[in-house]
Amino acid sequence: MKQVSRQARLEGRVSGFVPTMGALHEGHMSLVHAAQAECRPVIASIFVNPMQFGPTEDLQKYPRTFDEDRKKLEGAGVDYLFAPDAAEIYPPGFRTWVNVEGLSGVLEGKSRPGHFRGVTTVVLKLLEIVQPSKAFFGRKDAQQARIIRQMAGDLHLDAEIAVRPIVREADGLAMSSRNAYLEPDERRAATVLFRTLDGARKSIDRGERDALRLTAAIRDALRAEPLADPEYVALVDAETLEPVTRLRGACLALLAVKIGATRLIDNLLIEERGGGFNTEL
Ligand code: PAJ
Repeated sequence: MKQVSRQARLEGRVSGFVPTMGALHEGHMSLVHAAQAECRPVIASIFVNPMQFGPTEDLQKYPRTFDEDRKKLEGAGVDYLFAPDAAEIYPPGFRTWVNVEGLSGVLEGKSRPGHFRGVTTVVLKLLEIVQPSKAFFGRKDAQQARIIRQMAGDLHLDAEIAVRPIVREADGLAMSSRNAYLEPDERRAATVLFRTLDGARKSIDRGERDALRLTAAIRDALRAEPLADPEYVALVDAETLEPVTRLRGACLALLAVKIGATRLIDNLLIEERGGGFNTEL
């Protein structure tokens, strides 16, 4: 992989990289298409990174569909698939970690201690190996994207970090490899994340600017779904990830909700523009 990357750089090509953990869906493929629109070669990786799973999380049962994934990437015309072994990425004696302080300790980071340290460490390794001109991430994992952007700036990485919109199912559920865990009744209940964020979006359109009222309304709407067990509901500044009391600049409404045993996340981007607020689900 490093040889291929070096060659592409020597030839002055603008290479694009889409890191994934596999079980590919249209959300992942949208990143592939975005990379293809601007970059050649396009490189995708599949690596279920053990270091970003907590001891009680779903590493063992995380969906692995390598053959289908490879076909999808081939069909889409991806130039290279990098799929290393865990033993190659973390050889015995491995002991170097990257941690983006502050941003990694809140929200997802608070619910999942060590998660973002695992993410930033593996993403830095992948960027070092693949050496892309541009790397593509989804806003589905808004905090992850914010942290990776911070790391790229702080460590003077060459790769430009691009963040692309959330791809959703027809009923609004954000696509996720973990949706495969949902039983039929849970799958129906899971739309509550989208529905509550959509409700928040509508009240922002009607002029609501108070963050506490918005989060309270989101919590109430989640409570109406018996299968939903909210872990956090937050309205934060998109840069600092610190809670806001009033909408201002760019904000994110962030949700983590357990539906049965499955933990789902979703978010709404709220951006101040020309006197009003633009919302993006
Ligand atoms: P994974 O969950 O496989 O996601 C890979 C990329 O796809 C991430 O950038 C994620 O935000 C994006 N993605 C997932 N679902 C999406 C959706 N519905 N719409 C748009 N983009 C979506 O995120 C990871 O893997 C890992 O943490 C990784 C960055 C690969 C490091 O191990």
